[in-house]
Amino acid sequence: MNVTFIGTGFVGVVSAAVYASFGNQVIGLDVDENKISSLKNSKVPFFEPGLEELLTQQQQAGNLTFTTDYKTAIRNADVIIIAVGTPSAPDGQADLKYVFASAESLAPHLKTGAIVAIKSTVPPGTLNKVEKIIKNKTKTKFFTASVPEFLKEGSAVQDTLKPDRVVIGAIDQEVFEKLEKLHQPLNAPIVKVRPESAQMAKYSANAYLATRITFINQIADLCEKNGADVNDIVKAIGFDKRIGQHYWYPGLGYGGSCFPKDVKELAAYSRAVNENDNLFNKISELNENRIPKLLRKFEKEVGGWENKQIAILGLAFKPNTDDMREAPSTKIIPILLSKGAKIISYDPMASWKGFFRLDNLEENHQQAGTIKEAVKNADVIMSLIEWPEITQFDFSKTKHPDKIQWFIDARNQFHPQTLQQQKYQYLGIGKTN
Ligand code: UGA
Repeated sequence: MNVTFIGTGFVGVVSAAVYASFGNQVIGLDVDENKISSLKNSKVPFFEPGLEELLTQQQQAGNLTFTTDYKTAIRNADVIIIAVGTPSAPDGQADLKYVFASAESLAPHLKTGAIVAIKSTVPPGTLNKVEKIIKNKTKTKFFTASVPEFLKEGSAVQDTLKPDRVVIGAIDQEVFEKLEKLHQPLNAPIVKVRPESAQMAKYSANAYLATRITFINQIADLCEKNGADVNDIVKAIGFDKRIGQHYWYPGLGYGGSCFPKDVKELAAYSRAVNENDNLFNKISELNENRIPKLLRKFEKEVGGWENKQIAILGLAFKPNTDDMREAPSTKIIPILLSKGAKIISYDPMASWKGFFRLDNLEENHQQAGTIKEAVKNADVIMSLIEWPEITQFDFSKTKHPDKIQWFIDARNQFHPQTLQQQKYQYLGIGKTN
């Protein structure tokens, strides 16, 4: 099949490389010439395990090309998948301008019977709007569909190759058949639904997972009041098959480019349809308040931040990515600096300067090249992200012999007793010491 992806951001590039690996002829289209020229040279502008290798392989096999030209990308395409960004508008709703712009640009070049499918996360109703935009520009017969994405950063290639399910939202039988055939090699359950259900399924999945994380964070707060340990709670209730032990380690709240945005969008959508007083508005608020609240608590325990040297371990929003969008580090470091702390940060992949496009870091913030360098002489070590390099590091070797050193384990990844035996003052989440 000839498949074109519009938008070569995270989802577009990963999906293009994976769909090409099934023997499809895939074209990745983007209006950003710099992005396309680096992709043509097999350079991916972000870190994602296994992606560059797969991309290079598929380009060399002749299955995958990139272009900035709509005519080249669309005229032979059987399926066109829109995977452009949908940033949040100031009122929290999804800003669909890139989705609509790509619909306008692709319309004049469509071949008869082509399917235009939306992969970007968009509210119900968007597909009808896209259909109208295209119909205004062409008399060619085409179909539409919704194919939401469920991959996670850091394991995106594996998630796309082995998804838990594929959701296809469409009306026409012909469209279901063609898209089912396209997704057959994934060997995953295929859920065929109306487009509105597909779009709601995407928001529901992310909002549910975000709610689960917020729920356990709230339980963690209560545990701190009474001597319970939130890790024990997860273990104890997780044996109930309806609940499970997975995907709810407590911490600093959810971050990244998806959950914060998608929950806010669902909240804004709820308000727009007069469902004002529902869960999603509250979830966002609780998540946003989480870091300031925890920092106030830690500040009291360590006796204030002023003049403290603080090692921040983990700048990315989670392990195995260099993505710092809505990462805890981006909220914590400015607060600590404003309170007079000195920061030495470390991340295996993410760069503070790179993310904020800075020439220099602020006077009181340096980024170290190793964990050892970051923690040397630190008054407080804050382990923010569970990168294996951080969680497997032997901190006994770096303990300052004379200094009181606090260890804030913001993901509950360490054994409190081990660190206490090594003479660290341990602080975790959802437990009293
Ligand atoms: C998320 C979803 O998991 C994907 O299914 C979805 O396709 C994607 O958003 C998207 O909409 O594009 P992602 O943002 O890459 O994927 O990352 P997750 O691994 O789900 O983590 C999200 C946030 O929740 C991170 O800040 C993580 O640290 C936090 N988290 C996760 C917790 O605090 N506790 C947990 O138990 C799990």
